[in-house]
Amino acid sequence: MKFFVDTANLKEIQEAQDLGVLDGVTTNPSLMAKEGITGEDKVRAHYKAICDTVDDNVSAEVISTNFDEMVREGLSLAKIDDKIVVKIPMIKDGVKAIKYLSSQGIRVNCTLVFSAGQALLAAKAGASYVSPFMGRLDDISTDGVALIQQIVHIYQNFSFETEVLAASIRHTMHLIQCAEVGADVVTCPTKVILALLNHPLTDKGLAQFLSDHKKAQEASAQTVA
Ligand code: G3P
Repeated sequence: MKFFVDTANLKEIQEAQDLGVLDGVTTNPSLMAKEGITGEDKVRAHYKAICDTVDDNVSAEVISTNFDEMVREGLSLAKIDDKIVVKIPMIKDGVKAIKYLSSQGIRVNCTLVFSAGQALLAAKAGASYVSPFMGRLDDISTDGVALIQQIVHIYQNFSFETEVLAASIRHTMHLIQCAEVGADVVTCPTKVILALLNHPLTDKGLAQFLSDHKKAQEASAQTVA
């Protein structure tokens, strides 16, 4: 299972990379705007900086919504670095752009997926990744993990190579549920990956181990004296 972080914040990306378990990064126009990255040169430089921080898989999203412009943008983004995965929205022209870009050997992540039918179309068009947004489905009282499970099942039926990239992951339970149903990738804020570390019995057990060790050391120091 791959772990991606869903952020354009370089510090957050570096923190996840330093943990040693990071496989990639996803961004979107909202996340880029949050970091104040605007203008083509700055956007390209920022994507390059992200690529220089991680080993592979940096999703960079197109802004256009018509076929010609999405292809132009996608080709241009792909030239930034071999690690770039072009992110294309699940719309009619997007499906055509996925087909074209993937036929040119460019990896595509199909984003804004909310149904099994959309995921099927993305795989048929040759997307390397499909991004169902489970948190946003949960937000409207729809079962996000059920969709992830359904897409995993459909892709297995036909041996599609498209990887299921569960997105809009808000907390560790989402992440664990994705692991249980066989999502290939999860993308989430770095804090969600770090939260996997937490268990009160780990903290309690470690405190006990260290205290017992200290007591034994003090006792042996007194025996020597
Ligand atoms: O990767 C998609 C993700 O950025 C959406 O997450 O939390 O805004 O629904 P969220």
